[in-house]
Amino acid sequence: SEDLQIAIDGPSASGKSTIAKRLAERLAIVYLDTGAMYRALTWAALKEEIDANNEKAVTELASALKIHFEADDSKQQVFVDNENVTNAIRRDEITRAVSAYSAIKTVRDIMVDKQRLIAKQTTGIVMDGRDIGTVVLPDADLKIYLTATPQARARRRYAENNEKGYSTESLATLEKDIKARDNYDMQREQSPLKQASDAIVIDSSDMDLNAVENRIIEEIEKL
Ligand code: C5P
Repeated sequence: SEDLQIAIDGPSASGKSTIAKRLAERLAIVYLDTGAMYRALTWAALKEEIDANNEKAVTELASALKIHFEADDSKQQVFVDNENVTNAIRRDEITRAVSAYSAIKTVRDIMVDKQRLIAKQTTGIVMDGRDIGTVVLPDADLKIYLTATPQARARRRYAENNEKGYSTESLATLEKDIKARDNYDMQREQSPLKQASDAIVIDSSDMDLNAVENRIIEEIEKL
């Protein structure tokens, strides 16, 4: 797995981050959650009361923002400056606002630069996001497009919220929010969510995590 680069893209709540974490552990490579970076920016913007329409101020915030990750035994912790925002960036208010901030081109340029730098500085990485195979790592060794029906994703998010003790919206609201975010992320002008032409598509609607992981391991073994 020396210098292996894996890109995992797909819509929200398709299981990307869980699978990416498992792969990173199994292959002893670094995991980068790019969504957490856009969420961290959104958290800072809401705190500073900087509107997504104020592109100049958002861009300045993005370039000044010091995001870093720290590995814990069980999960990766996300910090903005020295504040631990791991849980805060998962709140519904962030989830609802993040697509508007991440649609700004200058913001994406800054984030993509940071992501490529991290990839360059590590030997072996798995990144999950929306534009990893298409923009961030176009030469990745393996590109996976992980998807599932909105219903399946809403059910998983609901179960996950309950399991982690987060407050949760109803199943119907989660499904509505998931569809809205899919639309926004797929229709935006700047690096919209789409399959890379050389990506392997996995529809996980009727697959459990082990099945998805094994499917990807099969592909890695072919490399
Ligand atoms: O993956 P997650 O759901 O945490 O991502 C939150 C949001 O960040 C997405 O809905 C999308 O708007 C944005 N995002 C992005 N590009 C990425 C990762 C996330 O635009 N590579």
